[in-house]
Amino acid sequence: MTNRQPLVAANWKMNGSLASIRLLLDGILKGIQSETKPEVVVCPPYIYIDEVARNLDNTQVLLGAQNVSQHEAGAYTGEIAAGMLKDYKCVYVIVGHSERRALYCETDAMVADKFARVVESGLKPILCVGETLNEREADETEEVIARQLDAVIERAGVQGFANAVIAYEPVWAIGTGRTATPEQAQEVHAFIRLRLARHDEAIADGLRILYGGSVKADNANELFNMADIDGGLIGGASLNADDFLSICRAAI
Ligand code: PGA
Repeated sequence: MTNRQPLVAANWKMNGSLASIRLLLDGILKGIQSETKPEVVVCPPYIYIDEVARNLDNTQVLLGAQNVSQHEAGAYTGEIAAGMLKDYKCVYVIVGHSERRALYCETDAMVADKFARVVESGLKPILCVGETLNEREADETEEVIARQLDAVIERAGVQGFANAVIAYEPVWAIGTGRTATPEQAQEVHAFIRLRLARHDEAIADGLRILYGGSVKADNANELFNMADIDGGLIGGASLNADDFLSICRAAI
């Protein structure tokens, strides 16, 4: 099996203020050990990207954005282009988070366009996929994940995944305190890897698949120990430096 470097990404969503984000980042940077194994990424709200970027110089923490426009430039009021994110040293961009799909009506096709735009611009997408509770209870989990993945594979090709990351985030586990069991998550992660392997085994083998959905300091270890779970996308618990650092330490 390929040696995949674990990745732990903080998704701060629309939380914090300039003052609280400075404190949070300071706490994270002070606690990150040089021997910390996982790649660590923080995704602040857009408006704080500049501030965070300036503080990440000469650290081992990388910058990510929570969203991006599918368009290159133009009359798209309120949107941010991938090229702009690059100006601020962003490396990763979260694409297709379930909150964007559900609250901002992002379709599979839009998510695929965003993914392709991120890849074209030389940034790395973190593509989120996941089923709702109704879909899980109707036994449609694999069907939903396959549909979400296939839309992106068709648009960007399997090559688009060479530098990408996937986050499996069951919608019913996000911000609810209800985590998927390690076995439930592993089953879907293996399914995702297999789906990609049908197109390219090497890319599938090297692909990092993160779990997201109520990851906490006390459940991270057992999740990250599963064969196909290569780290986490952390919402609520990433807003506390100590909790986030414990999760980072669990990803070895
Ligand atoms: P949560 O969020 O850790 O608060 O459940 C995860 C996410 O939405 O990425």
